[in-house]
Amino acid sequence: MSTKEIPTFSLENKDGFKWELRPTTIDMLEEFHNKVAENGEYLSYWIPTLHGKDFSVTETFVKNVVANHEKVKQGEPTQYCNHFIFVDGKIIGSIGCLRFNNETKVAEIGYWIDRNFQGKGIATVSTKVIRDKIAFELLGLKTAELHCADGNTASQNVAKRLNPDRTFYADCDPIPIRGINYRLVVYAFDNKLN
Ligand SMILES: CC(C)(COP(=O)(O)OP(=O)(O)OC[C@H]1O[C@@H](n2cnc3c(N)ncnc32)[C@H](O)[C@@H]1OP(=O)(O)O)[C@@H](O)C(=O)NCCC(=O)NCCS
Repeated sequence: MSTKEIPTFSLENKDGFKWELRPTTIDMLEEFHNKVAENGEYLSYWIPTLHGKDFSVTETFVKNVVANHEKVKQGEPTQYCNHFIFVDGKIIGSIGCLRFNNETKVAEIGYWIDRNFQGKGIATVSTKVIRDKIAFELLGLKTAELHCADGNTASQNVAKRLNPDRTFYADCDPIPIRGINYRLVVYAFDNKLN
């Protein structure tokens, strides 16, 4: 049976700034954890679980991703397909498909970037590529969604710049973040390849 490759992408913004999306592999674990830990305070502001204080949490995530990549390669239902974002050969963030519903063929795209690399379009351009080339083309999903706390303006702007087909509140309880309950806004993009 033929296997599918998870591609690497070389990208650049309109000012010529370059970066790469490389599929997550186990040898990236330590560098990735260090980057999460370095950005822990900033990342956990909107993603409370992403504080980088516990190596075993990062390790579990990376090992799960790597195991699920084998399923992607075999064309089987997966729970993760993730890339790390590299600038000049160093990890500066993460982006990938997660929280799959393989029956309805819907998954979320989640992302974060090092605070020093904000404002360059890295998240916007990368999300478009992961949506079109991974979620739709490689995985054949029907819908890719971005879920943002209603208040995480930087993340909501990433979604809005990509012109979602539908925007609605998630059918779940508000998420407590820093003592405030935030509703989750879903930005849904439909696969128009077929
Ligand atoms: C959410 C997050 C990834 C967004 O990062 P960001 O830097 O705001 O987003 P982008 O990388 O797309 O950059 C946006 C900027 O690049 C610009 N831009 C967009 N496309 C561009 C392009 N092709 N070329 C150049 N610039 C571009 C935008 O105009 C915007 O500039 P502005 O801030 O002056 O308006 C980042 O804030 C983050 O990691 N936050 C913490 C974790 C988090 O909240 N994750 C999401 C959970 S839902």
